[in-house]
Amino acid sequence: MKMNELKLVYFSPTGATRKAVMETARSIDLKSVSFDFSVYKEKKPTLKFTRNDLAIFGIPVYYGRVPALFMEYLQNISGDNTPAALVATYGCREYEDALLELKTEVESRGFKVIGAAAFPAEHSIVPSIGSRRPNKTDLKAIAEFGVELNRRIRKEESFDHIDIKVPGNTPYKKYGKNSLFPKAESSMCTLCGACAKVCPTGAIPLKEPKKTDTKKCIGCMKCVRVCKQNARSVNSLKMKMLEGKLKKACQSDKKAEIFL
Ligand SMILES: Cc1cc2nc3c(=O)[nH]c(=O)nc-3n(C[C@H](O)[C@H](O)[C@H](O)COP(=O)(O)O)c2cc1C
Repeated sequence: MKMNELKLVYFSPTGATRKAVMETARSIDLKSVSFDFSVYKEKKPTLKFTRNDLAIFGIPVYYGRVPALFMEYLQNISGDNTPAALVATYGCREYEDALLELKTEVESRGFKVIGAAAFPAEHSIVPSIGSRRPNKTDLKAIAEFGVELNRRIRKEESFDHIDIKVPGNTPYKKYGKNSLFPKAESSMCTLCGACAKVCPTGAIPLKEPKKTDTKKCIGCMKCVRVCKQNARSVNSLKMKMLEGKLKKACQSDKKAEIFL
């Protein structure tokens, strides 16, 4: 089929998903345009893709699901039998129902899923889990996924017969409630506002960046990563408890899983 453009639609607060989406895209022989929903947008943009576009939807797995914020963005995105590939990164625990939920949602919005993948990554809350992943080996697997997608769009005249099966169950796993709210240590915070500028939900007021609106914060850890003063952190006792739990539940040697 004659394809036009590659549309990269992703949410990636700490960068692993973006890396996986970009590496997938690198093997695809089409001009690309990015829609990055990692930075707060008061108004969710309306996007309409054609049947000659290829969309890649990229998400980090949150609580075994698609991040609720990304689901909100999806409500304004539609396709016209547009082929789509799904990329999920997860912190070496499990991705549970995330791919199934994403596939079901984008298919209900006019997309035809022609490939999907789950890639283990550094855990955004506890970075010592899966540290620095996606690594060289992961990037090779991700690039191979891109090569296969490229082959598929070049070879097929129609995608109607493609039926991608991804793991997951319904009803989906219950979505978790965030209890990790990074706050700034008063003496270390220089009020530079870097955290406020990058927060995906607008939970940090630009004029008072030491504060966090706990009703808006989703615990993505972007503000912690971006703070050059290391002023922002989560309550250390809560963090220690979660770290112990996650270290038992996660396996840092998980492998890429590709569904074509
Ligand atoms: C709120 C929250 C929930 C998460 N839930 C899961 C999970 O259910 N399973 C898992 O393996 N990793 C989980 N993670 C880890 C992320 O999925 C993983 O680190 C991902 O690669 C982060 O992507 P990003 O760097 O693009 O933000 C969670 C992280 C956050 C912040």
